[in-house]
Amino acid sequence: MRLAINIDHIATLRNARGGKEPDPLEAALLAEKAGAECIVCHLREDRRHIKDGDVYRLRKSVTTKLDLEMAATQEIVKIAKRVKPDLCTLVPERRKELTTEGGLDVVKYKASLKRSIQQLHDSGIKVSLFIDPVDEQWEASKAIGADMIEIHTGEYAEAKTKRQIEMHLSRIQTTALYAKQLGLGVNAGHGLDYENIKPITKIKEIDEVSIGYAIIVRSMFVGLENAVREMKKLITS
Ligand code: PXP
Repeated sequence: MRLAINIDHIATLRNARGGKEPDPLEAALLAEKAGAECIVCHLREDRRHIKDGDVYRLRKSVTTKLDLEMAATQEIVKIAKRVKPDLCTLVPERRKELTTEGGLDVVKYKASLKRSIQQLHDSGIKVSLFIDPVDEQWEASKAIGADMIEIHTGEYAEAKTKRQIEMHLSRIQTTALYAKQLGLGVNAGHGLDYENIKPITKIKEIDEVSIGYAIIVRSMFVGLENAVREMKKLITS
C-alpha cells in the first residue's frame, strides 16, 4: 500500500498571512524525502488554499507522482490539461463546505463526468473518481471509463461504535474487492489518521491511501518528515 500526502493545509497556513511561507512545494519535497509516494493538492474553484501557481511549481518539482484533486468543471479541466498531473481525482465541490463532504454521484452525473474523463484522457492523464463505497457508484465509474476509484473513508473515520466501524469497513472492503476485480485501481482517503489507519491497511485491494489533515497536524509537533515516516511505518508494518 502506497502513501499519498495532501498538502493543502500548508497552503491554508501560508494564505493566512498572504505571504510565501510555509511553502507547499517545500512540504511536498520533504514528504517525498520521508517516503511519500504521491503528492496530492486540491485546486478548488474558490482557490482557498492551493493556487494555480502552486500546481505548476509542484508539477515541475514533484518526482514521485502528482495527483490533482479537482471538481470536473471546464475551467479546472482546462488547467489540468495544461499542467498534466499524473492523475486527476475528480471530487464533488461545494463552496461552503470545510472539506470534501462525500463521494461523487457518478450515476447522476454520468454524462458530464464521462466527458471530463475523455478530455483528460486525451491529454494522457489518468482519472480517479472519489466515490462512496456503494455498488452503483463503482459500477458507473467503470462504465464511464475511470482508471481508478478513491473510496471515501470519511464515514468510517467518523463512526463511533464498534458496530458502525465494522459496517463501514465491510462496505469499503467489498467495494475495493469488486472494483479491483473489474480492473479499476483502488485508492482510499478522507479522515484517515494514526488511530484508524490499521484496519484499512489490512484491505489488500487498496493500492494507495490519501492522507492530509492528520499528517499535517502531527507535523506541527514532530516535524513533517517524522509525521510522514510514522504513518509509513503503520502502513507498511
Ligand atoms: N481524498 C480526498 C478526495 C479529499 O478530498 C481529501 C481532503 O482534501 C483527502 C483525501 C484527505 O483527507 P484528510 O485531509 O481528511 O486526510
